[in-house]
Amino acid sequence: MPNRLRRMRRNEALRSLVRETHVQPNDLIYPIFVREGLEEPEPIASMPGQFRHPVRGLPTVVQELRSVGVSAVLLFGLPKEKDERASSSCAPAGVVQEAIRTIKDHNPDTVVMTDVCVCAYTPHGHCGVLNGEVVDNEQTLPLLAQMAVSHAEAGADVVAPSSMMDEQVSAIRKALNGQGLADTAIMAYSAKFASAFYGPFRDAADSAPSFGDRASYQHDAANARHARRELRHDVAEGADILMVKPGIAYLDIVLRARELTDLPIAAYAVSGEYSMIKAAAERGWLDERKIVLETLTAFKRAGADLVITYHAKEAAQWLTDI
Ligand code: PBG
Repeated sequence: MPNRLRRMRRNEALRSLVRETHVQPNDLIYPIFVREGLEEPEPIASMPGQFRHPVRGLPTVVQELRSVGVSAVLLFGLPKEKDERASSSCAPAGVVQEAIRTIKDHNPDTVVMTDVCVCAYTPHGHCGVLNGEVVDNEQTLPLLAQMAVSHAEAGADVVAPSSMMDEQVSAIRKALNGQGLADTAIMAYSAKFASAFYGPFRDAADSAPSFGDRASYQHDAANARHARRELRHDVAEGADILMVKPGIAYLDIVLRARELTDLPIAAYAVSGEYSMIKAAAERGWLDERKIVLETLTAFKRAGADLVITYHAKEAAQWLTDI
């Protein structure tokens, strides 16, 4: 008998009949940078097509996403004031807190997720409170918990701790429950690797560390088993969604996460991934639409349920056009 695997690939109708993986606009989460004191959207040089937004511009951004079927956003705040204790990260009238309220007022059905980390709120740009040159885990946990509570009080549906402090998920869960916010979910950046792919984001969010790097808290790119240990810890600490980040170079980690738990898994196609595709597409070297849809399919094939991507709006449009 000749082997005929090509039989089911003969034409698009047959191929679509046996297609194993599908991407829908509803799987996508769009990251939004919101900057205090802005009047107009501000283009981000290292991420063509992306902007820092003023709070009052958010209803339009969200409405445009909704019109193509994207119903979840992940907010990153850029405050006016930075200090050692990241005070503006927990302020009731802080930029993210205002952004949450504004979106929820105009679009109550939008899922609002927030990044919980202090790197954009401290002058040193590290993800926690410093003790000398060391990021101090114990001093940082109450700060993250307070920040998460203030986001939840403003109406966030999901808080996403990204500072990679040990026990950040349980500290936040406990604080939320203690404040009567048991319905607020936690998306844990469980497998967040120390990565050069974050370069354009640090420019966008003005959050680059002023000395050293993040290697003492984010995972070593060489370590899959170590990342799996953290994924397990975050499940035990009460995470509702686990995240793997960056995305495209870490699909093996997505697969491991998928095999480890029945929780939803999110993959984050980070700033560097976006900018690489944009730069090549601008030169005519890659077909942006095809590359984006192929990579989104790859995330889902590896086991991700959700993909956080700066391409969310275009991708959703392309998916709807097909
Ligand atoms: C905050 C944070 C970062 C990203 C998400 N949350 C930056 C970092 O860890 O340096 C990166 C996102 C991206 O590159 O798109 N700690």
